[in-house]
Amino acid sequence: MIIAVDGPTASGKGTIAKALASHFGLPHLDTGLLYRAAGYQCALNGGDVNNEEDALAGCDFPDDLLSNPELRSEATGGLASRASAHPAVRQALYERQRAFATQPGGAVLDGRDIGTVIAPEADIKLFITASVEARAMRRWLEMTGREIEIPLAEIEQDIVRRDDRDINRKDAPLRAAPDARILDTTRLNKEQAIAAAIEAAESAAKALR
Ligand code: DC
Repeated sequence: MIIAVDGPTASGKGTIAKALASHFGLPHLDTGLLYRAAGYQCALNGGDVNNEEDALAGCDFPDDLLSNPELRSEATGGLASRASAHPAVRQALYERQRAFATQPGGAVLDGRDIGTVIAPEADIKLFITASVEARAMRRWLEMTGREIEIPLAEIEQDIVRRDDRDINRKDAPLRAAPDARILDTTRLNKEQAIAAAIEAAESAAKALR
């Protein structure tokens, strides 16, 4: 069984995908991490992520980069969003994601284009959304918890910019697949969002049986 979990930044899709993977006993891939690694490697190489060739060279990153905590930073998120707009970068990272999705037994993948491009045949597709304000507040609380001081307004602006890039890029833009179930987590806390996602996935799984 393939489960696709898509949605914008800080929507809660990562947390939800992890919970679904554990609920259904499936392996999980955070595909955003691959774009983050590509953007970060491009910067390490001294390249410019806005340049397609430089960004493509960044896709040749060592596997151990994926566990570098720097990949989780807001700055790397920005590099990833820029790198991911290049068709050559998306193509370079496609096979790895496709192989993960189609492994025997199934998998859970979260990202922006899992239900539309990477695994359009996914058995269950969830699209997680939340208002910009709710997402900014979650990110701010998470960063404050890690003792990173940043104004809420700055995070909000960054999210709007990132959404705009992810939604308006030509290749595989962020959008819900027509057959995805939409889950708005604006008014839900973490536990409620996980419970709602499990319920939606269980009901989709039942419909398959
Ligand atoms: O989910 P995230 O914030 O870690 O993703 C970082 C960036 O990577 C995001 O702004 C867009 C890009 N991305 C993508 O284009 N396609 C995916 N499947 C996952 C992420």
